[in-house]
Amino acid sequence: MATAPSKVVVLMAFMAAALSSVSMAAGPAGLQHGFYNSSCPKAEDTVRNVVQGMIRNDPTMGAAFVRLFFHDCLVRGCDASILLDPTTSKPETEKTTIPLRGYDAVNKIKDAVEAVCPGVVSCADILAFAARDSTCASGGFTFHMPSGRLDGFQSIADEVFQGIPSPRFSSKNFLIASPPRASTLRT
Ligand SMILES: *[C@@H]1O[C@H](CO)[C@@H](O)[C@H](O)[C@H]1NC(C)=O
Repeated sequence: MATAPSKVVVLMAFMAAALSSVSMAAGPAGLQHGFYNSSCPKAEDTVRNVVQGMIRNDPTMGAAFVRLFFHDCLVRGCDASILLDPTTSKPETEKTTIPLRGYDAVNKIKDAVEAVCPGVVSCADILAFAARDSTCASGGFTFHMPSGRLDGFQSIADEVFQGIPSPRFSSKNFLIASPPRASTLRT
């Protein structure tokens, strides 16, 4: 088993990768710092306030948000496909394949963001902001999380465990092994 400190290092490594990543799900302008500066200036503050309150109530929520973002990004980029519900024609999705926590919490964050600017902020960016704010609220660093991700409409259950990095990896091996669909590292 990895020790607690090395888990933190791996999560931090993942957040660093996300920070420098170019998501394949990005809009035409690519990812930008402050993508919602003019369309929804309160977006990031709203996510941060809700996430901080949730972590104060239940400190384990931080890990839940980072884990949701991690699994979302591993399948076809950070496109919120992890949030898609199964349907009668498609009973198997990422969500049904791996048990994760935090879906209700993400809905609450989404509701808070919709209340300040309806229909503007993607769920993919909400997951990214929530993961960033979780690392900070859990004692890590904060950083400008690039935004402008688009939400995907496909959730591929079979891809959930493909190329997933081992929890035993060192942070260096983790970054080497992280598939390009999750992050493109710039050195
Ligand atoms: C948003 O505002 C910040 C701070 O002024 C700035 O650094 C960033 O480039 C802006 N982003 C966009 C997309 O306008």
